[in-house]
Amino acid sequence: MADIDPGLSLHERRARMAAEVLEGMVDRAASGRTDRAEGALALHKDVYTDPVRFQAEKHKLFHQMPIVAGLSQDIANPGDVMLFEAAGPSIVVGRGKDGEVRAFRNICTHRAAKLLLGEEAVCQRKPRLTCPFHAWTFDLEGKLIAQPGKEGFAGHADGARDLMPVAAREWAGLIFVQIEGTMDLDAHLAEFAPVLEILELEKAEPVKRGHIDTASNWKYALDTYGEGYHFAALHPNNIGITHMSDVALFTPYGRHHRISFPEKRMAGLAKIPRAQWPQSDYGGVHLLFPNTVIFVGSVEPGKTFVQLFRLFPSDVGQMRCQFAVYAPGGVRDAAHRAETEMGYDLTEQVVRTEDYAQAAQSYANLLDAPADFRVILGSNEIALQRLHQNIAAAIAMPL
Ligand code: FES
Ligand SMILES: [Fe+2]
Repeated sequence: MADIDPGLSLHERRARMAAEVLEGMVDRAASGRTDRAEGALALHKDVYTDPVRFQAEKHKLFHQMPIVAGLSQDIANPGDVMLFEAAGPSIVVGRGKDGEVRAFRNICTHRAAKLLLGEEAVCQRKPRLTCPFHAWTFDLEGKLIAQPGKEGFAGHADGARDLMPVAAREWAGLIFVQIEGTMDLDAHLAEFAPVLEILELEKAEPVKRGHIDTASNWKYALDTYGEGYHFAALHPNNIGITHMSDVALFTPYGRHHRISFPEKRMAGLAKIPRAQWPQSDYGGVHLLFPNTVIFVGSVEPGKTFVQLFRLFPSDVGQMRCQFAVYAPGGVRDAAHRAETEMGYDLTEQVVRTEDYAQAAQSYANLLDAPADFRVILGSNEIALQRLHQNIAAAIAMPL
């Protein structure tokens, strides 16, 4: 993969990368060749079912790494707040009157009540957080600004009862939160940063969101985004019709990656001159390590969408996907909104009833499998191999 020239404008970088991805897909589609690892990789079933491993993942990945809490437009205006709870403790993420995004433990410093209630990631307009229990009130900088019966707390110095901050950073339209420790986002994103930048997520307007609960280990569900090997068999009525099975263009960026799945029609483009290819928008399935999938696609040129899937472990055999769709550049009109909503509904249906239903069934079967059972990831499942190797390295446990 050629490096992106930092001297180019965002628009030029995006066009260049779109061309590169399209050329790679046409090549793979015409040859039927998929990108591969060197060999197959066997994974002991414990990788999915071991509760000790699950605890290590929760701690090292979900508490000690930057995790996507949402996109900038989810809390677009000063005074907007949202809940982020899926990674573990309840967190309030808000945009202060200075426009800065900050995060705090959702714990009242009086007697630990939750300050903010409601649905995860849904924007609420609350320039001040007033505790429902005794009405202590905080601003979105975390300062305790009102305290009924203040005289009862004499001796507890001003400032000592402000909200407990959590590391948060807004970058390129993404809002990251890290529950424990100091966030080093630049080191975390590394060479993936220029790819995320060209997505221009800061302009992506939320259109529809929800969640999908599944009785599977979170990694088994996440695996379904990393290979097109299953398209024909598992999705015969949708993506299996339009897309090639077992053909993918895979580009790693450190621990992150992009994987693109060619449509069947792309094979024909190899026979016509490059200059006559139709205009194509940039797209692909981006894995932002460890748990976030950003799928950028287009219905037709100029009609792009962003789908954000954030997979969280609730327990070793239970997970929740926070799913949201966005209109890049904003919603243009009612028809555009309806179209984007329909994209949510169709995708949610396929993911829930096909991919995650498969994950739940396979996971239950893994629990009953013999103690020495190993799943096997083929050389064609390169993205999965790397994902599991990277997770194992991050939690310092062998595969
Ligand atoms: S617990 Fe919040 S004001 Fe009492
Ligand atoms: Fe699938």
